[in-house]
Amino acid sequence: TLKVPNVRELAKQQLATIPTRYILDDLEKTSSSISLPQVPAIDMEKLLAIGDDSELERLHSACKEWGFFQVVNHGVSSSLVEKVKSEIKAFFDLPMEERKKFEQQEGDVEGFGQAFVFSEEQKLDWGDLFYMTTLPASLRKPHLFPKLPISLSDTMEAHSKEFKSLAISILCQLAKALRMDEKEMRDLSNDGMQLIRMNYYPPCPEPDKTIGISPHSDADALTILLQLNETEGLQILSNGVYRSIEHRAVVNSNQERLSLATFYIFNLDSELGPAHSLTGPNNPPIFRRIRVGKYLQDFFARKLDGKSFIDRMRV
Ligand code: SIN
Ligand code: FE2
Repeated sequence: TLKVPNVRELAKQQLATIPTRYILDDLEKTSSSISLPQVPAIDMEKLLAIGDDSELERLHSACKEWGFFQVVNHGVSSSLVEKVKSEIKAFFDLPMEERKKFEQQEGDVEGFGQAFVFSEEQKLDWGDLFYMTTLPASLRKPHLFPKLPISLSDTMEAHSKEFKSLAISILCQLAKALRMDEKEMRDLSNDGMQLIRMNYYPPCPEPDKTIGISPHSDADALTILLQLNETEGLQILSNGVYRSIEHRAVVNSNQERLSLATFYIFNLDSELGPAHSLTGPNNPPIFRRIRVGKYLQDFFARKLDGKSFIDRMRV
């Protein structure tokens, strides 16, 4: 990852036009006149209720048809969600000198900066990010999590625990919906890795010429995305069969937008590939097996490029 400008500082200059590095020639726009289908909402309480499989069937079709759903009745307290929102906003609002202490260091994606940038010619996203490993605690970077403002680190400590159990709970429901052996899922996810990506998209004078985050599909087991303020921006581009849906974020001219993606990754030393309990002579695996750590390394070594990363894993 190469060092790139801080977009928030750039936006503060009140430019009338944006630098060419942010201008996309091939930006696919969605027409505002087409009505978009409603993202399915999945009720966690219903899902966990015994003896009723109707919500599980809805989850199954949401994952087959969308690869994306809204979770309601998730059990995370609204006071925690509110704290996460205000603490992250305050973190991006810190003076530049304070934020500098948490900048990405040479060869590392964690901290404030940008990811997936590999050439000076490459187009850039109109947004700033902060990446950080949250779990397991032993993999936290000593200059990041432990050095955060205390109110933020306390909040992220609570957040990481809550979101880990929510992620595992959802993953086990996915296993159930797939008729996969639940123990296989638990073994893959019990000691998983968790990373967060905080996104800050400043207002943009030419929002139709650029993008907040380029189209991509996430590479982890499950991402839980929290929109931190009222500004809309997430767009979902296409459908797949229990696949990681392609999505992007757009920007607008008058409001900033913040979001928090919490990634849950299977145990780093386990192997990623079609579940053993789902494959056999009649159901040959269609994806290669790869060590989780290696898979992650490969993901971060390339420019974001729609769904193509997952397609490279086909047998
Ligand atoms: C992401 O894909 O990590 C962010 C999407 C968003 O900001 O809504
Ligand atoms: Fe994403």
